[in-house]
Amino acid sequence: MAESLTRTSGVVLRGCGSATPNRSISNEDLGQRVETSDSWIRSRTGIAARKVVGADESLAELSAQAAERALQMAGWSADSLDLILLATSTPDDLFGSAPRLQARLGATNAVAFDLTAACSGFLFALVTAAQYLRTGAMARILVVGADQLSRWVNWDDRRSCVLFGDAAGALVMEASTDGRDDLEGFLLRSDGSRGEVLQLPQVSERNPLVGDSTHQCGGFLPIQMNGQEVYKFAVREVPAILTELLQETGTKANDLNWLLLHQANQRILDAVAERLSVSSDRVLSNLAHYGNTSAATIPVMLDEAVRDGRIEAGHRIASSGFGAGLSWGAALLRWSGPA
Ligand code: UT7
Repeated sequence: MAESLTRTSGVVLRGCGSATPNRSISNEDLGQRVETSDSWIRSRTGIAARKVVGADESLAELSAQAAERALQMAGWSADSLDLILLATSTPDDLFGSAPRLQARLGATNAVAFDLTAACSGFLFALVTAAQYLRTGAMARILVVGADQLSRWVNWDDRRSCVLFGDAAGALVMEASTDGRDDLEGFLLRSDGSRGEVLQLPQVSERNPLVGDSTHQCGGFLPIQMNGQEVYKFAVREVPAILTELLQETGTKANDLNWLLLHQANQRILDAVAERLSVSSDRVLSNLAHYGNTSAATIPVMLDEAVRDGRIEAGHRIASSGFGAGLSWGAALLRWSGPA
């Protein structure tokens, strides 16, 4: 950790990594469980399959695999990290999984904590990490977006179970002192008054405690979602926040190399791109293979496109996360890659 607060000028994105569970469940597989079809799921969502954690897998393990790949790309050792931010709504332990990730990596000098903002979590964590770097409080940070929603999906509810999958994605970033800033701008929003359209609520059962007192049992209900309302929220708010960010930063849609949106539904990606006049060949999508992996979608997609050469050093990326809360945000990023 930086010994004294030296104000730095910006942040640099140095490495990324991702990991997904071994087991893939196809649309046809799901058709054995609920009344659905491959053609319905593909045409309404763009999803063909999703990965689901097995009995021998955990969020901490997937996160560690993704993080190790990001560290390797950057050429950093784990003990050079000052902070680990794990964006997740589905930790292995409700008290948080970030310290377990820290232990698995051997990141002995890093403080580690979880950050919860559902599908916006990775973007919120990236922006949070940037503040520590910009103040000079820290020099190197690992941000992980990881979720295992398969543990919380009602697999008998065809309206929601077809959408979700499990994954982890990681990004390592450092403070710059030379004027470079890979986070060119950001906007974050929350609106709890609309939160009921997508929830993972606590059970409301109460048990006797002592005398007349009761206590609420632990545990949560499966995901409750009003799909149409979430869809309307996304296609209204995401183009609006991206437009505002582009205006604020003086950026034209043509200046962007890539649009990297939370991977929720191909129709949402297409609608947002159309509103922003971004051509479909500049819209990143891997929904077909993984479905909606919540906080993991953006870093997993980033990693895939960096490793296959689509995203190159210097490319500019407009990103937006959105989901439960309700929460949403946008960031204008530049990819630097390893020094
Ligand atoms: O990170 C954010 C997470 N959430 C989201 O991104 C959700 C956003 N919403 C969506 O992606 C879409 O609303 C869905 C994909 C969830 C649903 O698509 P839709 O076009 O809004 O379908 P719908 O809910 O209007 O349902 C149309 C019909 C209904 O049948 P009826 O009432 O017209 O007879 C549903 O019962 O499709 C039926 N249906 C299905 N049929 C086959 C709903 N789910 C399925 C299914 N297979 N899996």
